[in-house]
Amino acid sequence: MSSPFPLTPEIAAGFARIALGHVTRPWPYKLDQVLTDDGDLALPRRLHPIFFGSFDWHSCVHGYWLLAAVRRRFPDHPIAAEIDARFAEAFTEVAVEGERAFLRRPSARGFERPYGWAWLLKLQSELIALGGPWAPRLAPLAADFADRFRNHLPLATYPVRTGVHSSTAFALALALDYAEASGDAGLGDLLRAKALAWYALDRDCQAWEPSGEDFLSPALMEAECLRRVLPGEDFRAWLAGFLPRAAGGEPASLFTPASVSDRSDGKIAHLDGLNLSRAWCWRNIAVALGTGDPAAAAARAAADAHLDASLPHVAGDYMGEHWLASFALLALTAGGDPMVGPRPELRPDVSGREAEAGSPEAAACALREGRLVLLPTETVYGLAADAGDPRAVAAVYAAKGRPAFNPLIAHVADVEAARRIAVFSPEAEILAAAFWPGPLTLVLPVQPGGRVCDLARAGLDTVAVRVPSHPLARRVLEAFAGPVAAPSANRSGRPSPTTFAAALSETGEAAAVALDGGPCEVGLESTVVALLDAPRLLRPGRVTREQIEALVGPLAEAEADARRSPGRLTRHYAPEAPVRLEAKGPGPGEIFLAFGPAAEGPNVLNLSPSGDLEEAAANLFTFLRAADARGASGIAVAPIPEAGLGEAINDRLRRAAGAIG
Ligand code: TXA
Ligand code: MG
Repeated sequence: MSSPFPLTPEIAAGFARIALGHVTRPWPYKLDQVLTDDGDLALPRRLHPIFFGSFDWHSCVHGYWLLAAVRRRFPDHPIAAEIDARFAEAFTEVAVEGERAFLRRPSARGFERPYGWAWLLKLQSELIALGGPWAPRLAPLAADFADRFRNHLPLATYPVRTGVHSSTAFALALALDYAEASGDAGLGDLLRAKALAWYALDRDCQAWEPSGEDFLSPALMEAECLRRVLPGEDFRAWLAGFLPRAAGGEPASLFTPASVSDRSDGKIAHLDGLNLSRAWCWRNIAVALGTGDPAAAAARAAADAHLDASLPHVAGDYMGEHWLASFALLALTAGGDPMVGPRPELRPDVSGREAEAGSPEAAACALREGRLVLLPTETVYGLAADAGDPRAVAAVYAAKGRPAFNPLIAHVADVEAARRIAVFSPEAEILAAAFWPGPLTLVLPVQPGGRVCDLARAGLDTVAVRVPSHPLARRVLEAFAGPVAAPSANRSGRPSPTTFAAALSETGEAAAVALDGGPCEVGLESTVVALLDAPRLLRPGRVTREQIEALVGPLAEAEADARRSPGRLTRHYAPEAPVRLEAKGPGPGEIFLAFGPAAEGPNVLNLSPSGDLEEAAANLFTFLRAADARGASGIAVAPIPEAGLGEAINDRLRRAAGAIG
């Protein structure tokens, strides 16, 4: 589950130090300028008051992007203060106007098209996410480049299918990030339309690459571009046609890192960038494919192989050093920033426009990346995660504070999707037909092989499903095309939020995208009915007892979970085998659930070798079941720290051990 290439604070700060070392280094510098008379000649610093370093304009722009990205992810690291000081010196109003003045020269129409344009917009999307004064300061410059895309794309009849700066796939991908972050829906539509027109019909890619000066993979960049455009299921179908032999590692050229013969040669050193940018694409593709797809493992392995080949070479020779760390950071932050948890991509702020900028497509994208979304429904706002991703679900529990692993409701787009995760009885069909989409949740036997993970179900072999009726929720669920776990978005012990502002102030900090759906129409959580033995009302709500009884007969009362937690409505998985806490290792016949560094062995299941509580939470119920499935005579569990999610893990373990309930 954990990557061999984590983005640690030390690595991120190392990258930032490299960038701080070159964004103001004036020489050598390669100008991109068409001269029209003697007066055009000037020092780079005069022509480009902000982006005069880093060997060339676009490298300087993405050097600043790197700084902003590190600054946002590691705000408490000492390097943050240095980055702030750099921004304060660089991003003055006068300097922004100076950069804009260069663009207004008639001879500058093709300046940095489209690569530098895309990076400038990517920088701006990161500054928006960062919050503070810099996004508003650079907004006029970003708007200039957004306009350039708006003017140029209608004229761009054909894509440019190269692996260098002229790549249209790379430009569209980065510009899409900006369109989403800034809420520029018109630009987003234009970019998506071009991406589809250019790439959607591509099939059976032969991938004759790399070319000797590539730093982008034409094939994978196209896939990475469409990944941002097509909803999950559609993207997977497209990729299956584009790279039909990916699961078997074909075409081999895409799975094999390029070898770099001379790192002091600027063009040959591009190939290190190719390896890093391929790792970026492969990681994102692997996440989009999900664990069930046979190509996902090949994609992950390819990402690791490419990182292994070029991550050691981001610094050393200036021909690579002035730009490679940005591509390394793209790769190490791909697939949902595994080491830094869910950081806000669009920082929710009740007054700011960023939070409103979230679109259903951006939300679906965040969910695919394992991040969290504030989701309006007709009942209350939910804090949503991919129900098939235990780490994302663990992050939901963590965000709610004083976490308890109550089973969560899986939200789906329609009854067909519900049937894929739950087993429907005739009563279930009747209630679904009568009340969906709408505020009714059904607790049903879980469908074997369904996508809702153990943690989202608290280890039970039942699953709660509902099809919400709120139009925004429905669009997210359609775009995501999978079950979404979403408890009410309140922090633990507080009332469920029924307005956007309330939802933001409860758990908005944890969400990568927040969708404003206005005040909730129902304002009360959904009615929960279990259809397991007899129909049972677990939680009353807008759909009333009378309405339900009219269709399926009398409802039994909710019964407490007599086995482990009398008096509580919430059931959890209770293992067959006796549980022994605070254990140092397995006794005879026992399975040992380790935590942190521990000896491996046939009787050992490690909840998290690195001592990560989110990972341990994600594995907890699955491992308890696995221990039972292996017929263990007992389950010995290592001590788990009580902090954060540890409290909920220990609560579950104590109940399982019979110390509570
Ligand atoms: O209206 C709603 O249902 C909202 C919106 C966001 O959809 N969601 C919500 O989720 O209220 P939450 O997690 O706050 O409440 C879910 C309820 C809990 O009482 C939980 O115990 C119950 O559903 N539940 C979920 N899965 C269950 C299962 N397998 N068996 C019994 N109860 C279950
Ligand atoms: Mg709740």
